[in-house]
Order: sequence, then structure tokens, then C-alpha cells
Amino acid sequence: MKISVALLQRPGYEPQIEQISSKYQIPIVVNQQNSSIRFLLDIEDGILKLIEPGSVRFRPIYCHSGSLQRISRRTLLGRAVGRKAQTVIDATAGLGGDAFLLSRMGYSVLAIERQPVIAALLENGILRMLERSDRIKLDFCFADSRMTLFDLNESPDVIYLDPMYPAGRKSSVAVARPIRILRELAGEDSDADSLLNASLKFASKRVVIKRPHFAEPLRRDQLSDSVMGKLVRYDLYQIT
Ligand SMILES: C[S@@+](CC[C@H](N)C(=O)[O-])C[C@H]1O[C@@H](n2cnc3c(N)ncnc32)[C@H](O)[C@@H]1O
Repeated sequence: MKISVALLQRPGYEPQIEQISSKYQIPIVVNQQNSSIRFLLDIEDGILKLIEPGSVRFRPIYCHSGSLQRISRRTLLGRAVGRKAQTVIDATAGLGGDAFLLSRMGYSVLAIERQPVIAALLENGILRMLERSDRIKLDFCFADSRMTLFDLNESPDVIYLDPMYPAGRKSSVAVARPIRILRELAGEDSDADSLLNASLKFASKRVVIKRPHFAEPLRRDQLSDSVMGKLVRYDLYQIT
């Protein structure tokens, strides 16, 4: 089922709201009392947030661009991407958690997201991060990576994928609410196989996929190696 989301008009932010509305095709409403809207995008102090009108328990969802401090490439994610790589496409960027970490490791990152509401939140977070630093190299693109990869001029060293986890052993009740909402917005990413195939054709050194331990590798026949963590596994597909 499609979730209805609208942008709340805010005095002082009219041009920004118009721009988000036209880029992401999200309608604008002037007040919160519209019963057909389930979630609202609201901008406050420059931060775009997803809120649930009338709910006091709902914690707003927004992009946490967080610290700018440099991170070592010796972390699990850095080892998976590879210490010598320079350019990374995060082709399933979501709210940018991994893209921000990668850019803080000094990679030059292009973050691609296709779901309009998530992409609007991500773009806002990236712009806020870039305002605070001219050292971070983080670009953004609102598109479906399966199509966009081949329009890019240069292959990146690494393509990083983190599609929605397949439904696991935990019941959906146990999954945190913001994650459930993002999953409702983005869907199950059941086309992850075709994204992996496109990525294998386009990356110049490696494709990395984040997977939960319980899930099978997406393409066992091409798998080169895995970097194992306590909570996740990074499957590596080396380009020969
Ligand atoms: C699990 S989330 C990614 C979380 C992210 N790594 C983070 O750290 O915040 C997966 C995201 O990938 C996006 N996605 C899946 N397939 C995509 C595609 N082909 N092109 C662009 N975005 C895609 C989904 O819309 C969803 O927002």
C-alpha cells in the first residue's frame, strides 16, 4: 500500500519547500489537520523531518549527518570497501548512514537513492553536512541506480550496496518503528539481484554488499570473500 506523505508549508521556507515538492513530486499542505495524510515532511531550523501528525510518541525521522571527524579505514566497513579505493558509489543510500561513514573515511562518495521521501531527507542531510565541511567529498543523486550507473562517465572503484534486509527470524513487532516506516516507504528491494548484476558490470574493482548473517549471498557463484562482523556480513565481489 502506498503511504501518503505531504510537505508542510512553513513561513520562511517557501522556496525550499517548492523546490523539494517539484523535485520529488510531493504535494504541499498548509496545515497538519489533513486526515488523508499519514506522514508529513516538516522543515525546522533547516532540518527536514518526517513526522506523524497528531502522534506524540512518534520520534521524527531525519538524516543524522553527525560528526565530521575522520574515521579509520581499518573498521569493518573500511576493510570491506578496501583501503586503497578512492571512489565509491553507495547505490542504495537510504538515510545516508553508510555514505556519511565512507565519506569520513576519505573516500569520494556518490550516494544514490530512488525513494522520493527518503531521497528528500537524505539530500537535506548531505547539504547540511557539506555546509559544515569543505573536506568531505559526498555527492547525491535521486535516481534508480540500476538505470543511472550506466549514464555516469566514470566507473567508481567500488559500488556499495545495502538493500533492505530480507524478512528475518525476528517478528516484525521486534523491528524498530523508524525502520518499519522506512521499509514501508522503500519496499522490500526485491530487485537487489538486478542491481548487483548492473553493479558487477560497472564497478572497476569491487562490489560490496551488506547482508545479515542469516541471509544467503545474493550471488554465491561470483562471491570472492566475506568480511564478518558481529551483526553484519559484507560480501565482496572482486572484479577481475
Ligand atoms: C537498507 S536502506 C540503506 C541504508 C543505508 N545504507 C544507511 O546506512 O542508511 C536501502 C535503501 O536503498 C534504496 N534502494 C534500493 N534499491 C535501489 C536502487 N536500485 N536505486 C536507488 N536506491 C535503491 C531503498 O529505497 C532504501 O532507501
